[in-house]
This record gives sequence, structure tokens and C-alpha cells, in this order.
Amino acid sequence: MAVYFHGESRNFHLSNDRISYILTVLRNGHLGHLYFGKKLPDRESYNYLLEEALRPMTSNPYEGDRKFSLEHCLQEFPVYGSSDYREPAVEIREGNGSRITDPRFDSYRIYSGKPRLEGLPTTYTECPGEAETLEITLRDSVTNVCFILSFTVFMDYDAVARSCKICNNGTEPVHIERIMSFTLDLDDNYYDWIQFSGAWARERFPEKHRLHTGIQSITSARGHSGHMHNPFLILKRPSADEYQGEVFGFSLIYSGNFIIQAEVDTYGTSRIQMGINPFQFSWFLKPGETFTAPEGIAAYSSKGMNGLSGIFHQLYRERLIRGIWRDKERPVLINNWEATYFDFDEERLIDIAKKAHSAGIELFVLDDGWFGCRRDDTQGLGDWTPNKNILPDGIAGLSRRIEEECGMKFGLWFEPEMVNKKSVLYETHPDWILQAPYRKSCHGRHQYVLDFSRKDVVDYIYSSMAAVIKESRISYIKWDMNRSITECYSKVYPPEQQGEIFHRYILGVYDLYDRLTTEFPHILFESCASGGGRFDPGMMFYAPQGWTSDDTDAVERLKIQYGTSYCYPLNSMGAHVSIIPNHQLNRSTPLSTRFNTALFGVFGYEMDLTRLSDREFMEIKSQVEFVKEYRTLIHSGTFYRLLSPFENNEAAWMVVSHDKTEAITGYYKILNDVNAGFKRLKLAGLDESFQYTIEGKGIFSGAELMSAGLVINNPPEQDKTASDFRSEIFLLKSQK
Ligand code: DGJ
Repeated sequence: MAVYFHGESRNFHLSNDRISYILTVLRNGHLGHLYFGKKLPDRESYNYLLEEALRPMTSNPYEGDRKFSLEHCLQEFPVYGSSDYREPAVEIREGNGSRITDPRFDSYRIYSGKPRLEGLPTTYTECPGEAETLEITLRDSVTNVCFILSFTVFMDYDAVARSCKICNNGTEPVHIERIMSFTLDLDDNYYDWIQFSGAWARERFPEKHRLHTGIQSITSARGHSGHMHNPFLILKRPSADEYQGEVFGFSLIYSGNFIIQAEVDTYGTSRIQMGINPFQFSWFLKPGETFTAPEGIAAYSSKGMNGLSGIFHQLYRERLIRGIWRDKERPVLINNWEATYFDFDEERLIDIAKKAHSAGIELFVLDDGWFGCRRDDTQGLGDWTPNKNILPDGIAGLSRRIEEECGMKFGLWFEPEMVNKKSVLYETHPDWILQAPYRKSCHGRHQYVLDFSRKDVVDYIYSSMAAVIKESRISYIKWDMNRSITECYSKVYPPEQQGEIFHRYILGVYDLYDRLTTEFPHILFESCASGGGRFDPGMMFYAPQGWTSDDTDAVERLKIQYGTSYCYPLNSMGAHVSIIPNHQLNRSTPLSTRFNTALFGVFGYEMDLTRLSDREFMEIKSQVEFVKEYRTLIHSGTFYRLLSPFENNEAAWMVVSHDKTEAITGYYKILNDVNAGFKRLKLAGLDESFQYTIEGKGIFSGAELMSAGLVINNPPEQDKTASDFRSEIFLLKSQK
């Protein structure tokens, strides 16, 4: 892994053993892009990849020269106004109204390791040798605004991390109207665009279309990354599939309003950009101040989409998730939400916890409803003091009982960013919500959004959460966020800074997370936003796991977890077995299939175990034993998608251990069918020469299992009990 600089050509070449990323300083001092993809040998100059040609209807920066135009160039940090008409990476508005910026190469430095971005989540290195960073400073000579771009290449992950700082070294303030974290200009447009979109309870379904001329984008303007679109994009060659072919992935490490877009121009080039959504954004930058944009990651794989997912899984699992929980086994938990909703008292919780403990479950999580006057979702949010009518000795007493009487660890739900009007907090501080002057604010689920752009608000919430945590025995926190932001106006900022509030809000969220995770490093955090409404890499930096979706139906979960797996590792996806008929869909699926689906996530239960039959309880007991035996393999191995539930009446996936001696496969037949064909399921990621034993099946070489496939007893003519929603788990073990 290295970053090379060639003085004459002014080429920079970042590479590891598998990828190259090459950029150059253009004639006019702007940054040009030359190549990103499979590793290339280093050479003095790749500038021949730039076009200089006479084309009608282009504009040219140099008088008398009709060949050099930025419209023809692939660029790293494009701007509007100096002959490029595509969307820029940055837009600066000066006091005189000008929006023209001219960021010219000023200096560079190359160093080991990678930068941390103050107040923002980022990937990181643990020792300097893991990555190398190229930092380039560009300067606009009129305003003296500088742009510090950093590009990091990792030794072990085939990805480039980028970020950008804007420093106002001038004497006049400016407004940043747009700043993209990553711009990648590709020399053609022969790609499928795959976005991950949906809604509440059906998050991150892949949607594919061919790149077309013009702009296509996914965005959020909701104040959180959202259920609707995830800040992740795949571009793949149309012939690429899960196993082979060129694939790029773009992921923004940010939890607020975002944009990811592609602009295909008339010459067939594609400009990919990601960053803070410029809609409703504007940042007032005074002389001497610096603005830091979030980090963007672009990854490249020539081994198809499974290859690309492998890169993101490894990078995010090993160098985004932090703290003691990064490498620790995650506890099997039981959450009382679907078991009781708001209808509980201490004894009911203790009964569930005792039963759960006897099933081997390790962590009891108390969800919404334990504080203030909260007995339904219209009241109480903001008052983080235990309701003594239902918990006589508060959370301190309950958590002690859960540990001492029930033998389990204790976890607690909070929704720190919100307030109900019916609460002591709102009565005391009605001015603490986001609200435009003289206007009403919309509610969402009867709640209003606290102004987290204000330090005093964040300080208050920190103190009230910390007070509960300090007096109790809390090992886990579920941090929820159940509405999108509407009237995003803060009463404490001047008019010229109101465009900052969405971003400042999310910085406030990160600040609170930072304080809590620093002060209480033993606590495992799970992020949640009405299920998977803020399931993004920004959150993962603070909360190693996220509640993937409020939809706990096994069949829907197959799709949700399948879609989520394109970017996010299995140990980040909260997945629970719940009761039937399912509360979201009214569908009844076998307990085994609910288990076999949730197994490929961070496992838990969301049901009242005291109401199960003895047979069901015994089944759960053996499920928990199974999880404990295989969770390390599932959370640390390499994941492969085998059969997509979006394209088939079945689904399959598997995880293979690093030394390839062990693997676990999940196969799911969604609807039963009559007289179905003979089925061979082709496995992946095994060692061809190893002999794998599969209980109940036999011994097979890796080559057989991957090329000929594993025979599934699909037409169960003899099995009269077979019905819809069947599934099977196959364990593969080899001696090498
Ligand atoms: C939404 C979450 O996704 C649920 O799991 C639950 O915690 C509720 N909020 C509680 O209000």
C-alpha cells in the first residue's frame, strides 16, 4: 500500500495490492481524476487519459486555446463556472453574491494512517501502517478560502476514504451552499445503478435501473438518513453478478440529510457524488473558521456484489465499529416491546426475565414506557425519570433485580431527541423544540423534536440520561428516534445560520453519543429510528448494532436483511424472533423459520416467553444454545448471498469462517409449491479441496458444493407436514 507522487506529471497514485486510485493536477491547477479500479502499475504519467480536444459548444479557460475545457475532464473537486456545466463538488457564495470559486492546487502531504474528523464519525486505523493518506490543499486566491481534501487508501480494504475541510483564511465571511464529500468521475456510463430504498417496515430493498443521461439521485431531507433511501449506492457493470464482474460501492458515513447522485453527461461520462444534501443547507463560514464535511467511502471489487459486500463488511466491522463491543460476542437479548408494549409492571417484567434466563437468554431489555407519565405514545417523552407507580424502586431497583434475581444483564430504551407536549420538560422549556418563529410545528407520533443544535439542550439530556445510568446497572441502551424533522429552525442562531441547523442537529446527536460512549464504555448501544430509519454507517461508529426494522415477520425480514447485507455486516443487524401471528403482517410462520432468519443478525427475542407452550419453550432453549455456539462464526465470517428473495420463491445465504473449515448456510422456501423441480443450491466461499461434512447429508468436497451444489429435498412428496415458509440450516465442518 502506498501513495506515489510524480513531480513532472503531477500525478498522485494511491494503491494497495488490488486497487489503484489515480489523480492529477490539471493545467489550470484544478484536480483531475484519472482512474479508479483494479490495480495498475505505477508510472510517471497517466495524463494521456485526459482528453484535450476541440469540441463545439464548449467553453475554455485560456484565451486562444480551444482544446482545454473542464467540461471534457474527469475531475476530483469540480466547480461551476470555469467551463464545467455539471454539478459541482462545492459552491461558495461570497458577500458580493458571486458563486464562482477557483480551487487551485497549493500543496500536498502524504502521511501514514488517516485523519479523524472532529465531531464526525469516520473509519479509523489502529496503527499507522494500516493506511496511507494523501492530503491536498487547494486555494481560491480571491477569497483565500482553502479546501483540504484527504484521500486514504487502506492496506487490507479495497476502498478509498475521502473527506474535505473548508478553511476560511480570508477576511470576509462566505456561505458554503454545497459541499460533496466524494466526487468520482467515471469515464463511461455502462452501469446498473442499485439503490436501497423502502419505507417503514420494509427498509433497504434493492432497486436497479440502468444509468441514463441526466441526473439520478437518492436523498433525505428528513433530518435522519431515513427509511426511504439508505446512504449507499452500488454501480455495477450490467454483466456483473454476485460472484464476478466490476462493482463500485459508495457509502456516506453520515446520519443526517444526504444526497447520492449520478450525473451522466452528453459524452457518456458519469459523475458520482455523495455528501450532505444541499437542499435546506447553507453554512456561514467566518474568517478563521473551518467546516468539516462527512467522510465518504468508495470501494471497488472485480468479484461481483458479494465481493463488494465483503469489503464493506470487513471495513465497517473492523475499522468503523469501535469500543469493547467491536470484538466481543453480542449477548442474546429479550426485548419486552412486542411482548407487552406499554402494558407492564415490574412483576410482569421480572416474570418474563426469569423465564428468559431459564432459556439461556443473557440480556433483558426494557423498552418504551418506563419514565415520566408515559403510559402511551402521547405523553412523557423528555422526562427521563423512572415512573415509580410501575417501577417502585426505579430503574436502579429493577436493574438490580434483573441481575440478582434473574441472573441477566439489563438494558434500557431511551428516545433522547424528542419531547411530548405533555411532559415536564416541555412545560419547563417550550422553547427547546425546533420551530420557526410565529409558526406552528408539525408533530410526528405526537412528539416534537428537541433542538439538538443547542449545547444547553444536549447538556440537559446528557445529565438526565447519565443520572439514570449512574444509579442503575445498565449494560445496553437502545437509542430510538421515532419521527422525522420538519420545521428545522433554531431560536438561538441568527438568520444567516439557519441553513446550518439540520447539520448542527446531527452533530448534537453525535456529541451526545460521544459523551455517553466515552463515559460509559461498557454499555452496548443499539441505534433505532422506528426500526431502520437511521441504519447508516454514521450511527455504527457509536452504536455497534442497529434495529434493522420494526418488521419482525420472518419472510419480510429475509428481504430486509438481504437488502441490508449489501453494505452492512451481520453483527450490525438487530434481528429478533417474535410471536405469531406477526404484529406487522398478521402472518404465521414456523418458529424454526423465524429463528433461522434472525440467526443471521444480532440475535434476540421480542415475545412473552411465559405464554409459550412447553414444546415451544424447549425449542427456544435449544435455539439459544445454537446461537451461543455459532454467533462468533456468523458475526466474524465472510457472508455470501446465494439466492435472492426479491427474485425467487426462496432465499439462501451463508457465512464461511476465515480458515474455511466451517460454514453455515440458511435456505428458505417461501411458499410451498406442488411437484417442484429437483434443487441444487450452489454454495460459495469454500475451499475446493476441503471435505465438508454436512449432518444428515454426507461428505462433499468444497468443489462439489460450489459447482454441483447441495441437493435440497425440495419436492417433499413424502413429507406431508411440509408447508409454506419452510427453512433449513446446514452446518459444514471440515478437517482441512
Ligand atoms: C420504535 C422502535 O422501532 C420499536 O422497537 C420500539 O422501541 C418503539 N419505537 C417504542 O416506542
